[in-house]
Amino acid sequence: MFSEIMEDTTKDLLSQAQSVINLAASQEDLENIRIGFLGRNGKMNELMAGLLHVSPAQRGELGRVLNQAKREIELLLSKKEEDLLSASSNLYFDPTEPSIKPNLGHLHLITYAAREIMDIFERIGFVRVRHPEIDSDYYAFEALNMPAGHPARDEWETFYIADNLVITPHTSNGQVREMEKGYLPIKMINIARCGRRQSDVSHSQTFHQFEGLYIDKGVSIANLKGVLEYFARNFYGSGRQTRLRPYDFRFTEPSFEVDVTCGLCGGSGCSFCKGGWLELGGAGMVHPKVLRAGGIDPRKYSGFAFGWGVERTYMMKAELSIPDIRILYKNDLNFLEQF
Ligand code: FA5
Repeated sequence: MFSEIMEDTTKDLLSQAQSVINLAASQEDLENIRIGFLGRNGKMNELMAGLLHVSPAQRGELGRVLNQAKREIELLLSKKEEDLLSASSNLYFDPTEPSIKPNLGHLHLITYAAREIMDIFERIGFVRVRHPEIDSDYYAFEALNMPAGHPARDEWETFYIADNLVITPHTSNGQVREMEKGYLPIKMINIARCGRRQSDVSHSQTFHQFEGLYIDKGVSIANLKGVLEYFARNFYGSGRQTRLRPYDFRFTEPSFEVDVTCGLCGGSGCSFCKGGWLELGGAGMVHPKVLRAGGIDPRKYSGFAFGWGVERTYMMKAELSIPDIRILYKNDLNFLEQF
């Protein structure tokens, strides 16, 4: 009689287990069910304890029924575990499946340009140096032969951060700083961010310049012209030429604007260049006063300097026609991803 009751209870337990396992929604649910039925204090063990009160003759048969029920519950649990796993497919890792390609970014156009420019100058012995992008009025103007109140300063439309502190409007602040290091000859390229209160299609408030400075004994305009030609040919292509136009900078004497022949028309004149030439930037022979400010004797040493915009120099490559310089700073992926 008792053994019959136990058999019925076992059947009930099995069908109970079946329904709760069916309803389980997570591995955690399954583990709780396993503990409830098969754990040390679980329902199956409770039933097993009842075997002690069954006659030895019936104990064997009842034991088999109980063990069979236990195995069935185990089977149901592992089957359900598999179902749950395959339902959430991301829990499966199939190493043979083609992977999703990660989105790879690339460096910004300006970084590419700066590296390409530096690469060309390094080949003829120039070394990249870094000078502050926020600097004192002294290095940005005063040491460059532009005393306080001098009208020439107006051209630089400078952002003042404090009375004596500016966002450098050009990389020329690095000239006297480099001279102050006290070594000669100097053959440096300073590439840095600059700022001016200007904003239109060809002017950005933030832009970059690269500044070359070469100081040694007997440096002449011929050397300057040679270096500029070398750069233009290597950066723009072998057919390009440069010319020096007289200009006026306070920190060079004589001073020039440097032009390069237009890549679109080859120098004959078109709507892009209007006259065959494109303006690159300023250059000149370092002014004796600037050499003296840097502790260098102008009777023994001479040098040239040039300073151009990285963005404009890059935009003038024939294959790049960017209608507005400011797009370089808009973080517009449609534009940037083309490069
Ligand atoms: C200068 O800044 C001088 N320091 C250059 C120099 C260096 C002359 C050494 C002599 C010796 P300028 O103001 O012309 O010169 O600027 C040089 C170049 O910087 C410009 O030709 C242009 O390419 C770039 N530039 C200037 N302002 C901006 C701006 N707001 N946005 C983008 N590029 C600019």
